[in-house]
Amino acid sequence: MRIKFIAGNWKMNRTPAEAAALIDAILPLIKDAQCDAAMCVPAVDLHAARERLRSSKVMLGAQNMHWADQGAYTGELSAAMIKEAGASCVILGHSERRQYFAETDETVSKKTKAALAWGLLPIVCVGESREERLSGQTAPVVTRQTRAALDGLSSGQVSGLVIAYEPVWAIGTGLVATDEQANETIGVIRGVIRDMFSGAADSTRILYGGSMNASNAAGLLSQPEIDGGLIGGASLKAADFAAIVNAAGVSRG
Ligand code: PGA
Repeated sequence: MRIKFIAGNWKMNRTPAEAAALIDAILPLIKDAQCDAAMCVPAVDLHAARERLRSSKVMLGAQNMHWADQGAYTGELSAAMIKEAGASCVILGHSERRQYFAETDETVSKKTKAALAWGLLPIVCVGESREERLSGQTAPVVTRQTRAALDGLSSGQVSGLVIAYEPVWAIGTGLVATDEQANETIGVIRGVIRDMFSGAADSTRILYGGSMNASNAAGLLSQPEIDGGLIGGASLKAADFAAIVNAAGVSRG
């Protein structure tokens, strides 16, 4: 059985002091959580967030990293850096990074390998654009992205990592995929993993992301293929994030 996983993606929001305050507001509300939870914060917040999360089971994550161990890459951060700052997971290949920062299937693949080599849990994002959905390209697009990200990994590595299916048209727009649309596409992604790694597909957790909130979480999380959520806007509101985490506990199993 896959334990549900709810990860907050704070994006470029909250200073270190604000991060500490938000975590202090969230933690008491999720103390009885039955699922795994993570907060993926801006890199400069990692240190302050680690102090606050020390006594909780909530994982701390970053939102990006470079694939190289070190070198002349001005402005970038390595896996070792984010790990020592407190991260145990990292979002890779988010559509905003693909769209605004020229990330490609190839760089996402390199980053995924580097994260695994450093013992970080990758949360690899895939998802189609509005145009791709409207032209019937959803399955081919998520298939291509998933194959590229996982190519060259072992089935042991794939069973432990996390994929987030985030339709680009649903991110930050309030246009959530229907429960059935999300479940169907996540089923396609799981089929790709089964094709590449057979048994690993039953263990890999695949999340939904895109305008998931306190009101629609329970429906999405009750779908058989959906193992959790990657939460943007709602992860910045303590009560809303807590409601989603607590809904994941209820729908578990
Ligand atoms: P959203 O963002 O929940 O604000 O739509 C999700 C994401 O981009 O991870």
